[in-house]
Amino acid sequence: MERGINTRCLHLEETEGKTENYGAISYPIYQTATYAHPGVGQSTGFDYSRLQNPTKEHLEKIVASLEHGSDAFALSTGMAAITLLMELFKPGDHLIVDSDLYGGSIRLFRNVSQKNGITFSAVDSYQDDIESFVKEETKAIYIETPTNPMMNVADIGKLSEIAKRHNLLLIVDNTFLSPYFQNPLTLGADIVVHSGTKFLGGHNDTLAGFLVTNREEISERLRFLIKTTGAGLAPFDSWLILRGIKTLGIRMERAQKNALEIANWLKTQPAVTKVIYPGLPEHPGYEIMKKQARGFGSMLTFYVDSKEHAFEILEKVRMIKFAESLGGVETLLTYPTTQTHADVPQEIREKNGITDCTLRLSVGIEDAQDLIVELTQVFAELS
Ligand SMILES: Cc1ncc(COP(=O)(O)O)c(C=O)c1O
Repeated sequence: MERGINTRCLHLEETEGKTENYGAISYPIYQTATYAHPGVGQSTGFDYSRLQNPTKEHLEKIVASLEHGSDAFALSTGMAAITLLMELFKPGDHLIVDSDLYGGSIRLFRNVSQKNGITFSAVDSYQDDIESFVKEETKAIYIETPTNPMMNVADIGKLSEIAKRHNLLLIVDNTFLSPYFQNPLTLGADIVVHSGTKFLGGHNDTLAGFLVTNREEISERLRFLIKTTGAGLAPFDSWLILRGIKTLGIRMERAQKNALEIANWLKTQPAVTKVIYPGLPEHPGYEIMKKQARGFGSMLTFYVDSKEHAFEILEKVRMIKFAESLGGVETLLTYPTTQTHADVPQEIREKNGITDCTLRLSVGIEDAQDLIVELTQVFAELS
């Protein structure tokens, strides 16, 4: 029987019963660039840390196990992971991508991948007829669910059927839910992307990225690409992410509980015109989430009644920090228009629904009461 996810966050079954590493409970940081060979033509399995490093490998095995993948690759950031992923494609290839995505992914596709001859169709994967966008040159569908920041929810299983029918890869950025709440590979995806900087690391102190797959040929190609392009995660950062993952489950549960409380509280505020949280039954993706995920996460987006009020809220928060990023233990408030999505052309931002009045909250693990006390103060002081 498979072990539960909280156990898999802590223990790698294949290393149990062995006392290598002197029985150290915390996996050691192998802070080495290179490794001695036992003899000519012989290897310990580790030759050079751009290719292999024991701390990084331990982390990759844990992440692969959490996502039910056969292989995971740890990269220096989420964007390094997505950039590497793009190397799977060649000039002339076409990708169908969600129109609402993390702004950095949109920037990469529009400004770098297109220059390399890859073409894109932007779709709303939660509602469009995806099949009508498939062309001869189409190689993959790339989505986030829920999306950043609009929290649109796509049906991964349905998209995977379309992908299989047309021999396309289905790539899912699973950053917002983490493997604790959602496993796209088990729903038919071919590759999972993570910004490990977010929930996996969980402490707003380290950057990391992951690619996870259960397809052997993709693993082989990615291994070659990492060796060649060199964006692997450093040993110390690997250790920090390993340490973060140990508490993934309790952090996710607690942050989710806080998020639901805050979403319901925001709905009572006269200055708030809309709250988008997939854990609210009125969210259009609620039923799909219940079917394909084990939780709703702790990201929510809300609208206030004016740009001035949005600015005031950003400037008045104190314990809650006005900052980019998400998925850490501390609650962060983000203004997508000038932060995460600043480089997305205004017309696309507006089409996706990101306006001057849109705020994104990454709810942390503080006491919900204290978060609500702070927000109550902030909203009471609005002019
Ligand atoms: C959904 C999503 N994917 C990828 C990234 C990029 O990750 P990183 O900042 O670690 O490069 C982010 C960053 O915010 C994100 O929100």
